[in-house]
Amino acid sequence: MASIRTLVVALVLLASQTRHLVLGINCFCDICEDKTCVSDGYCYTTTRLDKATGKIEHDFRCFNKNKLFPPENPLWCRQTPLLSTDEIAPFAVACCNEFDFCNQALRPQLPSMRPQEGPPEAQIGYDSTWLIIIGIIVLLVLIVLMLLIYCGMTQNRKWKNRRPGAFFKSNDSMDPQDQQPILGGINSLRDMIDMTTSGSGSGLPLLVQRSIARQIQLVEIIGKGRFGEVWRGRWRGENVAVKIFSSREERSWFREAEIYQTVMLRHDNILGFIAADNKDNGTWTQLWLVTDFHENGSLFDYLSTRTVDVPGMIRMSLSIATGLAHLHMEIVGTQGKPAIAHRDLKSKNILVKLNGTCAIGDLGLAVRYDVAEDKVDLASNSRVGTKRYMAPEVLDESICENHFDSFKRADVYALGLIFWEIARRCNVGGIYDEYQLPFYDMVPSDPTIEEMRKTVCDGRHRPSTPNRWQSIDALNTMSKVMKECWYHNAAARLTALRIKKTLANLGASEDIKPPQ
Ligand SMILES: Nc1ncnc2c1ncn2[C@@H]1O[C@H](COP(=O)(O)OP(=O)(O)O)[C@@H](O)[C@H]1O
Ligand SMILES: *[C@@H]1O[C@H](CO)[C@@H](O)[C@H](O)[C@H]1NC(C)=O
Ligand SMILES: *[C@@H]1O[C@H](CO)[C@@H](O)[C@H](O)[C@H]1NC(C)=O
Ligand SMILES: *[C@@H]1O[C@H](CO)[C@@H](O)[C@H](O)[C@H]1NC(C)=O
Ligand SMILES: [Mg+2]
Repeated sequence: MASIRTLVVALVLLASQTRHLVLGINCFCDICEDKTCVSDGYCYTTTRLDKATGKIEHDFRCFNKNKLFPPENPLWCRQTPLLSTDEIAPFAVACCNEFDFCNQALRPQLPSMRPQEGPPEAQIGYDSTWLIIIGIIVLLVLIVLMLLIYCGMTQNRKWKNRRPGAFFKSNDSMDPQDQQPILGGINSLRDMIDMTTSGSGSGLPLLVQRSIARQIQLVEIIGKGRFGEVWRGRWRGENVAVKIFSSREERSWFREAEIYQTVMLRHDNILGFIAADNKDNGTWTQLWLVTDFHENGSLFDYLSTRTVDVPGMIRMSLSIATGLAHLHMEIVGTQGKPAIAHRDLKSKNILVKLNGTCAIGDLGLAVRYDVAEDKVDLASNSRVGTKRYMAPEVLDESICENHFDSFKRADVYALGLIFWEIARRCNVGGIYDEYQLPFYDMVPSDPTIEEMRKTVCDGRHRPSTPNRWQSIDALNTMSKVMKECWYHNAAARLTALRIKKTLANLGASEDIKPPQ
């Protein structure tokens, strides 16, 4: 009799699991609107002991599949006493996906407080019959998955050379050498990112991200923007950039981290995302976003002090167009990428790499297009971004927000202005123009929306092209491209992909032309 009951309960449980797999599960979320988030993976609760105050704090959130690693048995969801080192407060996580709001009742225990005798599952405060059933099912699934993962790993050459099992080392070891078992044997960030993201391109597992973030030393401040400060930091001898948001800006931090971890976003011409972390010292939450560091700074910094030659201008412009085309492109399929619009494209949000190509950064205002629901993924207020770079339809609020292409077209307008900034600095035979922001001669510094609207919409003004450009083929082509980015009629503008192709052709023809 009892076994029949067990079977029925197990079936019901299985059925509800399948429902969650298809429809997603509602989770309790302490930072979301309506205190609810919807997840296709798990709900989770964390427990943190604040060393300063001695208080125990909990976070309640959602975990989407694309952020889980490995997706079937996420590292992040396992008990993690490995993070409690001297400087880091003890920390524990518990995940669940059995029923809606299952994480509301979860209270994972910190490692030091775990009772020695009971089985580890006893920490979770569910009724014990359920617990045993869930335990058995989970155990079976785990064994099968572990086997699968193990087989997958031994087949994968990359893993063979790198101490297989480093990611799966037992947590219970008290050996001091195992203080950071997650990062054991892996030395460069690039290695680690290549190894763990080759499948989905959506970023490192969150636990690894946190681990990295907490080993970074801040060195010097390198920039200030809308939401806080950008620092140069060091992680095991490598430079990284750390964008620090104030706790009031938690939403912006969350949003930017979320966008960077969009599946398949990683690209040579998009700023490389490394980690996001929230550190709490009791009274203050520090929100970090860690990315690749580029010592040559933003395109604005670069152009302000340096000039480029013709191939340099083309390489730079082509790389930005390539990055934007990747951002805008929708890739269909299970490992697909949604179309993304940047909405704050400008020379200060583009970084210059060592070889003179660029990476697009500051994705904090970006929006994604949700194909299934045929709408933008964010209740957007339309006039965000930098006023100087706003397209005419954004300035006069005529932009059609139901149509995702509108956002892409506004990006292309801004791209045209960036090309103008670059082309002015193109040094041909020792002649070039001084660096200027677009519309420097038409609006005051820090212009209002009204001033921009008068110039761009009413006056239909655009930056002027210096006469010298007409006599130089490459600059002439650049100038034509700009003008086709600036059309008042947004639908007439070139697409990023078209611009990319035009510039690639220009680059190829410059290569075969004899030097002047
Ligand atoms: N990865 C990086 N490497 C070098 N400098 C950076 C990096 N990220 C940002 N910066 C500098 O910090 C400034 C602000 O960064 P950004 O991400 O645009 O922040 P905000 O959202 O506050 O505008 C940039 O204009 C640039 O000068
Ligand atoms: C937490 O950090 C903030 C800013 O770094 C600092 O002002 C505050 O004193 C710190 N609080 C504690 C309890 O350490
Ligand atoms: C610039 O460097 C990146 C790697 O940082 C490389 O992928 C790219 O091909 C290089 N581009 C050029 C034009 O050298
Ligand atoms: C970046 O800056 C360094 C000096 O800081 C310089 O040597 C290098 O040429 C710069 N890169 C480019 C592409 O100009
Ligand atoms: Mg910025």
